[in-house]
Amino acid sequence: MINQIEEVKAKFLEELQTLKDEKELEEFRVKYLGRRGIIQSLFDKLKEIPREEKPTVGKILNELKELAQEKFNEKKKEIEAKKEKVKISLDLTIPGRFKYTGRKHPLTQTLEEIKKIFVSMGFEVASGPEIEDDYHNFEALNIPPEHPARDMQDTFFIKENIILRTHTSPVQIRVMKSKQPPVRIIAPGRVYRNEAISARSYCLFHQVEGLYVDEGVSFAELKGTLLAFAKQMFGSSVKLRFRPSFFPFTEPSAEVDVSCFICGGKGCKVCKYGGWLEILGCGMVDPNVFKFVGYDSERYTGYAFGMGVERIAMLKYGIDDIRLFYENDFRFLEQF
Ligand code: DAH
Repeated sequence: MINQIEEVKAKFLEELQTLKDEKELEEFRVKYLGRRGIIQSLFDKLKEIPREEKPTVGKILNELKELAQEKFNEKKKEIEAKKEKVKISLDLTIPGRFKYTGRKHPLTQTLEEIKKIFVSMGFEVASGPEIEDDYHNFEALNIPPEHPARDMQDTFFIKENIILRTHTSPVQIRVMKSKQPPVRIIAPGRVYRNEAISARSYCLFHQVEGLYVDEGVSFAELKGTLLAFAKQMFGSSVKLRFRPSFFPFTEPSAEVDVSCFICGGKGCKVCKYGGWLEILGCGMVDPNVFKFVGYDSERYTGYAFGMGVERIAMLKYGIDDIRLFYENDFRFLEQF
């Protein structure tokens, strides 16, 4: 008899766990705790056992009945609470919450577009540290200490010789030091300058550097590549203009303008009535730079270019203040 009671108890507890709703709960109650239920039938059997055993078995049986009732009540509460919850989550009268859909920052969008175009032309994407040393940021790029070209790139010092990079050009040095030609990379990233903050300059901005070195790389290839880029970025009818310029790490060097894609070159507010928009600097890699990285400048030639991402995004979207990119104002960001 005691064994039987134990068996009923085990089954009761096991089945109790599987109950999911009120209907199952009720069936279960009738089966075990009802007037003709299993537990009552055990009480009925009490009559048949020997007198001396009755008190012990009776006591165990009573304990079972109490335990069963208690566990059953617990389960009932649990199921009712769940039902309550479901009811609340289905209340269709509660007003909905407005959800903002996330989107990419206009600079990220511009960067991704630039990357996509160059990757489709066979460029790999490289990167370098934003905390850079004087050697990679200046010296190896043919900008010795005291060179006046440093004036234009005043920056933030971490300590002597360790700075926040002022351009992405140091990635050229790092890549060339790590492998032999052919090298064809772009290096997008953040750069820093100690500028007076205004609508046109900010203390940080983004650049995309480009570098292609191999045997026989020519200025004509540089022009063709940049023209293909400009047509995809700004529209197939744009033209490029190369103006002679100076950068210590390229010789010859040029600054490149794209014909104004707003007015088609006729002159408008965006191009300040000049018909051209400056978009980047470029040139043929200076043999002195090859010396710093250990490339044979008799055998290899290469071109490099560097463009400002903010500037390109500002031209493309007609944004007139660079600070807008960093203020996290939804009214601005929502427009892209
Ligand atoms: N590093 C230059 C700057 O920040 C931009 C630049 C010009 C990069 C000419 C180049 C280049 O690679 O060839 O002003």
